[in-house]
Amino acid sequence: MRAESQPLVSVTDVEKHFGDFHALKNINLTIREREVVVVIGPSGSGKSTLCRTINRLETITSGEITIDGKELPAEGAALAQLRSDVGMVFQAFNLFAHKTILENVTLGPIKVRGLSKAEADTQAMALLERVGVAPQADKYPAQLSGGQQQRVAIARALAMKPKVMLFDEPTSALDPEMINEVLDVMVGLAEEGMTMVVVTHEMGFARKAAHRVVFMADGEIVEVAEPEEFFNNPQTPRAQDFLSKLLTH
Ligand SMILES: Nc1ncnc2c1ncn2[C@@H]1O[C@H](COP(=O)(O)OP(=O)(O)OP(=O)(O)O)[C@@H](O)[C@H]1O
Ligand SMILES: [Mg+2]
Repeated sequence: MRAESQPLVSVTDVEKHFGDFHALKNINLTIREREVVVVIGPSGSGKSTLCRTINRLETITSGEITIDGKELPAEGAALAQLRSDVGMVFQAFNLFAHKTILENVTLGPIKVRGLSKAEADTQAMALLERVGVAPQADKYPAQLSGGQQQRVAIARALAMKPKVMLFDEPTSALDPEMINEVLDVMVGLAEEGMTMVVVTHEMGFARKAAHRVVFMADGEIVEVAEPEEFFNNPQTPRAQDFLSKLLTH
């Protein structure tokens, strides 16, 4: 896969400061088409910040981020267009509480992609079917379980036909029995060839679906390896320490 596929997301020499705090340090990472990258690391290591800079929810202090060869514009319509190439699913489901499930999924395609309501409805129902929540289409988010809401959030992101999907700890707010139903949808996406960056501590997902694991600590990428290699044979003391704590929980 990696030999033929093109770089889709390129992060080059990126630095991010929040005031005096150095949150991302010399980040270099290329994600190729159809590649699934799991980002793992201790709390505060910069995983969410990295995702947010890729989506331009955060500015960067220096360096360059390109999506499909294009640098992220600072603002305006070009940013909206490029941002819609990047689907994002957060820990908290962030659905619009006063819109139905169907409306949550059709809103972006109608407003940003210019679909008619009928087109958007048809596409949304197919996506809701795919993530297993079509019967809930006319309900409101609060009437759904956390796992169902998170699957709707995935359908909503997919409705924009993104080139890459970013997931920031998509299962960490879920009750344990709902984690697998969300991970199963993500594994399916990976198998279909979606390019994905996934911040998660779910090692089962990483082993099953990831091509590479990126380990971050203190704002730096400390280690990059294939999942089996990373989990079985971490090279750095920081990764060894982190994994030993993860495994004992
Ligand atoms: N808007 C902000 N202003 C100031 N500091 C921030 C801001 N956002 C993040 N930080 C700091 O940057 C560091 C990295 O935060 P980030 O949320 O990226 O970590 P993380 O790896 O996602 O952690 P977690 O596993 O807890 O989600 C933290 O020390 C955090 O306090
Ligand atoms: Mg985070």
